[in-house]
Amino acid sequence: MKIAGVTVAIDGPVGPTTPEAERPMLFRPMPMRGVTARNRIILGPMSQYLANDGEVTDWHLVHLGQFAMGGAGIVFAEDTAVEPRGRRSHRCAGIYTDAQARKFRRVTDFLKDLGALPAIQIGHGGRRSSARPPWEGRSPLGPKDEAKGEGPWQVVSSSALAHAPDRQTPEALDIAQIGEQIRFWRDAASRSRDAGFDVLEVHGGHGYLINQFLSPVANTRTDGYGGDRAGRMRFALEIVEAVREVWPQDRPLFFRLSSVDGKGGHWDIDDSVALAVALKARGVDYLACSSGGLLGRSRLPAVPHFPGYHLRFSEHIRREADIKTIGLGMITEPEQAEAALEEGRADMIAIAQEMMIDPYWPVHAAKKLGMRDWLDLLPPVYAQRLASRERELAQVPEAMKADFPFRRPSDPRDAEE
Ligand SMILES: Cc1cc2nc3c(=O)[nH]c(=O)nc-3n(C[C@H](O)[C@H](O)[C@H](O)COP(=O)(O)O)c2cc1C
Repeated sequence: MKIAGVTVAIDGPVGPTTPEAERPMLFRPMPMRGVTARNRIILGPMSQYLANDGEVTDWHLVHLGQFAMGGAGIVFAEDTAVEPRGRRSHRCAGIYTDAQARKFRRVTDFLKDLGALPAIQIGHGGRRSSARPPWEGRSPLGPKDEAKGEGPWQVVSSSALAHAPDRQTPEALDIAQIGEQIRFWRDAASRSRDAGFDVLEVHGGHGYLINQFLSPVANTRTDGYGGDRAGRMRFALEIVEAVREVWPQDRPLFFRLSSVDGKGGHWDIDDSVALAVALKARGVDYLACSSGGLLGRSRLPAVPHFPGYHLRFSEHIRREADIKTIGLGMITEPEQAEAALEEGRADMIAIAQEMMIDPYWPVHAAKKLGMRDWLDLLPPVYAQRLASRERELAQVPEAMKADFPFRRPSDPRDAEE
């Protein structure tokens, strides 16, 4: 095998060899179209706000690389904009130029070297774009930013309705602009293919552009892209059709949705089941079941955050729409993740925040769940060294540990010297 261009000669297989049926479900490989994830653990997409003109940097190589080293089956690059206006901030990643796609190559090559499937989430912030990063409160860009040469831009959406009172009023996309958007998404998918990604996710949740078409909280159009549920779903479905045309048939397509709008919203779980059925018919393989991002005035409650809070959604949609789902949302414990798979609440598990504390979460989980060759989830150069440490440890007699000699035993020959 090669790691970062250097050949590593390894005797024997790389990775765990425990027969599949004897492994915890979390560590059984997951074939998806023409590729196979080595296990069912996904590093979820996490925006970093550290790109340069949309181009990823060394930060992304190290940040994403650590999760492949830690044994995740799929490693997701962050929400990556399909056009400049789709970036939430000036520092968001993009894949609307060939140069941006080329910058991802180093990352995808490295992730593959380490046995993880590289994945990208493509998205568009719509009316939530043109903002500052989270550590500056996600507030809208204004004159202060203009003075630094990083001013606001006109945001777009399904309708001319602002996300919040302090946010910019978006321009509603007309029919020709919707056609242009669909081309942006398709081009982003073909660039993702050229950049070496194995998995592609369309971001349809969290109150961003696609979600702004799906939910009547943001979509008040009266043409064919609004109105009833079928009208509001049309933008999402046309994007997926265009993406599927260029995204290779042998590679899986994911879609992230907000399963329910949450506080004050209108889109509920029945809408999500209908969307899931339509997405599956268009070649979507997995649904990442999240929630929230749009605020309205109905009586739908906010989604409370507690361990495994989205699993109800992934379980319901999986059963009702007969589609594979990804469980996510405050999944931190190996037993919790394993139970979710065993109980049929999801097909794969995505973890975001907990992996920031512990990029080696998969290795620790394999150990905790009793997988004999848990160390083999590590890159071979680490695994080999640590396995010999384990063997050494097993060979030291118990009595030796507390009381091993550290003075030379007396020897009559010493006196003769
Ligand atoms: C720093 C950070 C950035 C995130 N960025 C994205 C993103 O780009 N796209 C997305 O769909 N979700 C994003 N999320 C949501 C996560 O992918 C995940 O669904 C959520 O944090 C819940 O999972 P967790 O409890 O394991 O963190 C982000 C979360 C965090 C903490």
